[in-house]
Amino acid sequence: MSDPKQEKATEVTEKPWTGRFSEPTDAFVEAFGASVGFDQRMYRQDIAGSVAHAKMLSSIGVLTDEERDSIIDGLAEIEAEIEGGQFQWSIALEDVHMNIEKRLTDKIGDAGKKLHTGRSRNDQVATDVRLYLRDEIDNAITPELKRLQLALIELAEREAETIMPGFTHLQTAQPITFGHHMLAWNEMLQRDSERLIDCRKRVNIMPLGSAALAGTTYPIDRGFTAKELGFDRPCSNSLDGVSDRDFAIEFLSWASLLLMHMSRFSEELILWSSSQFDWVDLGDSFCTGSSIMPQKKNPDVPELVRGKTGRVFGSLSSMLMIMKGQPLAYNKDNQEDKEPLFDTIDTVRGCLKVYADMMAQITLKPDNMREAALRGFSTATDLADYLVRNGVPFRDAHEVVGKAVALGVKTNRDLSEMDLDELKAFSDAIGDDVFEVLTLEGSVAARDHLGGTAPRQVKAAATLAKASL
Ligand code: ARG
Repeated sequence: MSDPKQEKATEVTEKPWTGRFSEPTDAFVEAFGASVGFDQRMYRQDIAGSVAHAKMLSSIGVLTDEERDSIIDGLAEIEAEIEGGQFQWSIALEDVHMNIEKRLTDKIGDAGKKLHTGRSRNDQVATDVRLYLRDEIDNAITPELKRLQLALIELAEREAETIMPGFTHLQTAQPITFGHHMLAWNEMLQRDSERLIDCRKRVNIMPLGSAALAGTTYPIDRGFTAKELGFDRPCSNSLDGVSDRDFAIEFLSWASLLLMHMSRFSEELILWSSSQFDWVDLGDSFCTGSSIMPQKKNPDVPELVRGKTGRVFGSLSSMLMIMKGQPLAYNKDNQEDKEPLFDTIDTVRGCLKVYADMMAQITLKPDNMREAALRGFSTATDLADYLVRNGVPFRDAHEVVGKAVALGVKTNRDLSEMDLDELKAFSDAIGDDVFEVLTLEGSVAARDHLGGTAPRQVKAAATLAKASL
């Protein structure tokens, strides 16, 4: 057996498909076409797929038990070589699949050459990508998403009574509780989490057995392989199996929705940590300084998450473009699926991790939030509702309060800072109990129904949200 380390990258005999070729691959084409630089990260899935395939081949009598065992042992050694950093990847062998297969053959001889029976790189790569994505969803993305949700829910529990102004049009609207605001973000993340579970159903379907495009002449047992690899089922059509990448597009759409939510949230955290708002402190370990302005503490984490959102949207566009012109079945275009997919997986993992850590440590400045809620006439709707309770039609009440607000604007006072006679001048329906509804606490406590901002409701909603994690 020759050692691949000793071979020249362009030696024609090294490749497993050179039978009909008389010229070696152009050196630039070889480098241009190689995917091993980025697909080697799927080595575990590639090996798991080969092990399952070898077991299946032996179960139908295509491989002997000895051949199967020597393949499994050889692949285990290769996995250890890769993990130990001793494996020599070769671009002449194009991709992770041929690199591993060639090394196996070098190690164990003819049994290694039999592994590819009834299989093609087309169904192999489609299987590897699905396994890789599924593993990332299960082992990294889902747990990090839950960790972030938990941080938000616990923050909501702690801050169920903390008052801040709620906005529409980024203008002060009505007082709300900070806990209620956090739970709004959790609702979005909860939907993202449900969408991911749904996306996984379509990821976890096995292309292996589709072979190059039409299936294979061997009596393969696809149910066996699917079970070995933890797939829900084999795909139903071989042409679709090798060429479909809509599972990846669906994941990228999912990631785009998630990042769109995180980007919006980032925008708020950036505003809230400015000295104009000064409502939150993101913590020194999540911020950076300026090399010129000594006073600066910049909210890099939310800014980067907002920026990385653009990159994820770009990957979704790339994948849609890669697919739109492809006739059935496999085309080399599909090799271009990996970089946007892997980059998005890494980006999503990073954003979720840093957010889960950061939100668990955020500190609030409740006095500043409260003071902000006192500006901008945030209890004006409460005054209108009070008038309605005292028999004034809502449209008239709206007009009355509008006039009171106009006086407040002119004299630079909140409604709660006016005296009773002044307020009474706007409407006979105003009595001395009016000040109860003009307080921030009274305002939020009054919105005491399912989905409302009252502290009681926020605590109940947080308990429910925690349970559904
Ligand atoms: N590296 C290839 C990819 O990522 C593997 C499949 C190659 N198939 C082929 N017929 N050339 O898609």
